[in-house]
Amino acid sequence: MLNEQVTRTLAHIEELDRQQKATGADIPFWRVSAEAGRLLHVLVCASGARRAIEVGTSSGYSSIHIASALRETGGHLWTLDMEPFKLALAGKHFRDAGVDAQVTQVEGDALTTLPRLMADGDEPVDFAFLDAVKPHYIRYLEVIRPRLRAGSVLCADNVGPRNATVVADYLRAVRSGPFVTSIVPTVNAEGESDALAVSVVG
Ligand SMILES: C[S@@+](CC[C@H](N)C(=O)[O-])C[C@H]1O[C@@H](n2cnc3c(N)ncnc32)[C@H](O)[C@@H]1O
Repeated sequence: MLNEQVTRTLAHIEELDRQQKATGADIPFWRVSAEAGRLLHVLVCASGARRAIEVGTSSGYSSIHIASALRETGGHLWTLDMEPFKLALAGKHFRDAGVDAQVTQVEGDALTTLPRLMADGDEPVDFAFLDAVKPHYIRYLEVIRPRLRAGSVLCADNVGPRNATVVADYLRAVRSGPFVTSIVPTVNAEGESDALAVSVVG
């Protein structure tokens, strides 16, 4: 659950984010909003997911929402990013939040690391959150798809009108076949309208 240690760490990341935006000093985190983060947490808890994948770690804000739910389900998160600075910062945040035992960080371009990870073992992926390169969502889906099972949950951020063209093939894919998809309107951490695609495998 979102205990005091987790809540304090999330508030710290929100403050870092505010400072970064105010000073323009660093690379933005481009994190999900607190509302979207809690939705990810709820979905992991409600689905009882145990094996979770996240593409796009950044500061670890969404990862902490997911990993703190996995602590309840007895699960584990593999989270992928290619920026060493962000991986180091997220690692610190996982320790601060007390969820480091639930998280494995994978460094490198997801187009290389995700296929490698998916080729390692054959246990189902119960939950996946896509939040790295928007035009690559369809490729992430193709790689994860053989490991999905009936009841697996798939979420993809930033599928609102601003990214309509680049995520069109992804949305087409999750609106057909075994998927049932809901496009949930969101407001991103910058206060702009956006959307999260939430899919379940039927
Ligand atoms: C939108 S941010 C993720 C935000 C995070 N999910 C959150 O809500 O806290 C996208 C992240 O994807 C990472 N990224 C960009 N291109 C990537 C690639 N080719 N492979 C892996 N990660 C990548 C960036 O370094 C960045 O940290």
